[in-house]
Amino acid sequence: MPISIRPLRASYPAFAGEVSGIDITRPIGREDITAIEAGMDTHAVLVFRGQDLTDEQQLAFTLNFGVLERYKTPGHVRKREDNRLGPGIADFSNLDKHGNIMSPEDRVWFFKLGDHLWHSDSSFRPVPAKYSLLSGRIIPSWGANTEFADMRGAYDALDARTKAEVEDLVCEHSLIYSREAIGFTDLTPEEIAAFRPVRQRLVRTHPVTGRKSLFLSAHAGAILGWTVPEARMFLRDLTEHATQREFVYSHAWRPGDLVMWDNRATMHRARRFDRHEVRDVRRTTLAGNAPTVEQEPVA
Ligand SMILES: [Fe+2]
Repeated sequence: MPISIRPLRASYPAFAGEVSGIDITRPIGREDITAIEAGMDTHAVLVFRGQDLTDEQQLAFTLNFGVLERYKTPGHVRKREDNRLGPGIADFSNLDKHGNIMSPEDRVWFFKLGDHLWHSDSSFRPVPAKYSLLSGRIIPSWGANTEFADMRGAYDALDARTKAEVEDLVCEHSLIYSREAIGFTDLTPEEIAAFRPVRQRLVRTHPVTGRKSLFLSAHAGAILGWTVPEARMFLRDLTEHATQREFVYSHAWRPGDLVMWDNRATMHRARRFDRHEVRDVRRTTLAGNAPTVEQEPVA
């Protein structure tokens, strides 16, 4: 039986869908892969319920849609030897390598708190991510939703003057900006060097659908040719516009959910939960295929 996709929001059906009729713990065929890709191009966020995935199964499902993103420099501060999970799977839990809940003073926890700001995964990398796939293994009893904003709809809804203004703008993105926004500025010289800003277009065009979207992210902290205060205020205004309720789907997690989103068309953020409860969610990330703009040559 072919898969079916049901819009998750009646009032805004073009964004976020729930997939049924498929077991993604097993290998899937070309027809299903094509249907899921088409669903991603339409909805940008897809939810699969009741998928009791192992890490190996999550990786195998992910690889149907591209190649894993791999970078030598980390996107966070956890040392490799402190990893709880194997290669290819990013740990977005609040657990340390021994399976204990992190201390609230753990620097890894500070980095995770930055994910509560609206962002697009790896926008601080020269080639930002394609899809992210987040698997909910253990879900806290309260809060912890993940919210998604449709950056295509947000772009379409801009007035003509603003569309013309943003068209050719280029931003600088860095983890330094998003962590500074929550008051976490205690970065080592190595981290500062690793998080050197990269350039991203503010308006990007989806490589498959050709639709334009706003490429915003908490990692964006400057606009080329603008003063920093002017740039930050404009980015904040645009983010407020793009994250109005009409463009947002808020995912309430159940154990066994797999949520897949296209970073090239969406932003997302984590919501609060009781940090004394375990939240075990695991992410696989697919590499994008091109930078959005030429990078500054490294001196
Ligand atoms: Fe994220």
